[in-house]
Amino acid sequence: MTHFHLCDGVVHCESVALPQLARDVGTPLFVYSSAAMLAQARRLRSALALLGDPLIAYAVKANPNAAVLATLSGEGLGADVVSGGEYARARAAGVSPDRIVFSGVGKTAAEMQLALEGGLRQFNLESAEEAEMLSQVASGLGRAAPVAIRVNPDVDAGSHAKISTGAARSKFGIPFADTAEVAARVRELPALDLIGVAVHIGSQLTSLAPLERAFGRIGTLIDELRAAGHDIRTADLGGGLGVRYEPSAPEPPSIEDYAAMVARVTRGWNVGLAFEPGRLIVGDAGVLLTEVIRVKAGAAGPIVVLDAAMNDLMRPSLYDAWHGIDAVAPDGETMIADIVGPVCETGDTFALARRIDSVSAGDLMIIRTAGAYGATMASTYNSRALIPEVLVNGTDWAVVRERRDTAAFLREEHVPAWIGREAAG
Ligand code: LLP
Repeated sequence: MTHFHLCDGVVHCESVALPQLARDVGTPLFVYSSAAMLAQARRLRSALALLGDPLIAYAVKANPNAAVLATLSGEGLGADVVSGGEYARARAAGVSPDRIVFSGVGKTAAEMQLALEGGLRQFNLESAEEAEMLSQVASGLGRAAPVAIRVNPDVDAGSHAKISTGAARSKFGIPFADTAEVAARVRELPALDLIGVAVHIGSQLTSLAPLERAFGRIGTLIDELRAAGHDIRTADLGGGLGVRYEPSAPEPPSIEDYAAMVARVTRGWNVGLAFEPGRLIVGDAGVLLTEVIRVKAGAAGPIVVLDAAMNDLMRPSLYDAWHGIDAVAPDGETMIADIVGPVCETGDTFALARRIDSVSAGDLMIIRTAGAYGATMASTYNSRALIPEVLVNGTDWAVVRERRDTAAFLREEHVPAWIGREAAG
């Protein structure tokens, strides 16, 4: 079910008409539906209930907006963080320390210290070298650091190469063959408490098979580590379940099928489970609302130039990702067009030769499924503003991030005195 739907001929988010947001806030902007993200969180929680009461640690990177985090933390979700910044955001949103997992291949000593002082459930260790540093930091603070071994299971996620993380050659995790040695080292090192194992093989997975293979290896790892005398109490199975971007593409596995698979594979593990979903929770809960600047006559047909660009939503240019694009007030006519942004790069293209609703200058459009990895990956390339984010809740809405525009950039940048600006004038 979508929370962005046509009502009286105009797309609404829940009960708010998008033209009203465009008028009041200005385009382009991201619009998020609270009901959509809550529905996904609840559906996931109820599907996973057959596994006891696992931790659902929302992957903050997917959409770190403070209001989004507060919404999800209010629903009882924890947080999977990969930087000091994400840790601070999770805490500010009210996520309790024992529901925070710290992932990431390059945790710094300062980030380790921040999380140890503030508290967390576990660090997902990505290397022996990281264990050495964590041991030093934790010892210095006089605290024990709970750690899980993130294994690289050497499983191809079958997703886009840039978002697959489980193949042996990738930078993520500890090679399966090295896990016993790393675990032994962790036991020797002071101030580390090995509590579990972790895995995450990639994002936007549209088949359960690679996940099942990876989880199977985690089961083997738990047995091996226990046989070596380690007290393994937790298993973090990562995120990665995909959402449907393209209506004609096959439906990704359902949350319920995923939960059933996990239940089958983890039977008898006797651990507390954790999950790190990101896109699944917020992907469908957001759109990028944009205005058509003009429709330009191109060599191969019309080119719709939007006021949103690749700097606002990188996914199409970075991963050739397909996103649905619709008029906010469709008149029933269609056209075939290229849909582009104003940035000076050929890659600033949202779709090529796509059949879309007929639009002309001044019309509003939405780019769908932009709630995950949208605003969070935005840049100010071409000196474009970081665009606002709006959260809708029924008939209520609020700007949950303000526009960061040229005046802000100019305030933040400094021309040193030695440049002698007066000489240039
Ligand atoms: N856990 C870890 C350790 C991760 O690295 C990630 C995502 C997640 C959980 C959440 O994965 P999800 O459930 O959202 O698939 N920018 C890309 C996606 C990058 C994903 C990075 N890691 C995109 O726009 O498709």
